[in-house]
Amino acid sequence: TPPYLLCAGIAYLLGSIPFGLLISHLGGAGDIRKIGSGNIGATNVLRTGRKGLAAATLLLDGLKGALAVLVVRLILDGGIQTGMAVAAIGVVIGHCFPIWLGFRGGKGVATGLGALYALCWPVGIACCLVWLAVAKLSHISSAGALAAFAVAPFIMAPLSEQPVQSPLPIATLLLTLIILLRHTSNIRRLLTGRESRINIDPPPQT
Ligand code: G3P
Repeated sequence: TPPYLLCAGIAYLLGSIPFGLLISHLGGAGDIRKIGSGNIGATNVLRTGRKGLAAATLLLDGLKGALAVLVVRLILDGGIQTGMAVAAIGVVIGHCFPIWLGFRGGKGVATGLGALYALCWPVGIACCLVWLAVAKLSHISSAGALAAFAVAPFIMAPLSEQPVQSPLPIATLLLTLIILLRHTSNIRRLLTGRESRINIDPPPQT
């Protein structure tokens, strides 16, 4: 059998690099875990007012998601779809539960979108568009993330050449479940109207 455990390990390690924490620290924005929601993701880095640091976090967290899937695809001869599915789950678990931070990591949105892109790029693009559109309309990042991952399995299933029970749709469904579980506090705030808004538009001229 192909070395799926090795694939999972590589993906987990890549995912566990906490770019948001490193970038905000190196950028002089302090410990991101003590700001806003306490999350290490790009949304919370944006709350420091440092848009460049937030963009870098988004990009690097997304890239590591895609890279994990691509690396596994390169090292495997057979069982590539299963390996890619394992890598996608592994990299998001690494991001959400990094050993270096006592297993307290991020929420998996940027990393999951990167992984989806590498699994099947049209799904990645479609989910990014849903995420951006909902976040832009609602001004709530978590709403965009939840919408993007809610639709992800429904886009992946018909696009994947194999039946629904093939590795890629199953991995997508698992990613959605992980992201849903990581957003329980956001969902609670959304339901009670207390979720914080992001300002992705430039501030109005005064
Ligand atoms: O990317 C995570 C986002 O969906 C929510 O982040 O900091 O508002 O909990 P945050």
